[in-house]
Amino acid sequence: MTEEEHRIASKDILQRYVGKQGALLMALLDIQYSLGYIPESVVDDAGEILNYSKPEIWGVLTFYSDFKLGKKADNFIDVCLDGPCHLDGAENNMKILEEKLLGGGIPTDFEIRRSSCPRLCSQAPVIAVNSKWHGRMTQHKLELLIETLNS
Ligand code: FES
Repeated sequence: MTEEEHRIASKDILQRYVGKQGALLMALLDIQYSLGYIPESVVDDAGEILNYSKPEIWGVLTFYSDFKLGKKADNFIDVCLDGPCHLDGAENNMKILEEKLLGGGIPTDFEIRRSSCPRLCSQAPVIAVNSKWHGRMTQHKLELLIETLNS
């Protein structure tokens, strides 16, 4: 999707929350879940469509660390680093991914991001590729997953 298509998609999502209680947070979560990030245009569009001030919108976006404002690449790899995932090897997975990206083992159109708990703790450690979560990510499973990124 182009940047303009992402803006149109995020405006459509914002429209769905007009007049609903807690509209701003719910709409931002929906956009993050649908697109994998929050387009910067959402700050203006949420103000117009949902009638929030820019400070209110920035307040929500910066309070919740899971909101990813803007994007650096077309694809995302999210690594949960919270409690159970941390205990089960998430930091090692993160290190492997960062080394692979730097070394050319992962295509350059991927961005590796730190994530907080997506509530899949029973499957820790978890990693998402473009919002699709994969659980019990051993080093071997991670290497297989990385291979699929290159195919
Ligand atoms: S701590 Fe990683 S899924 Fe909950």
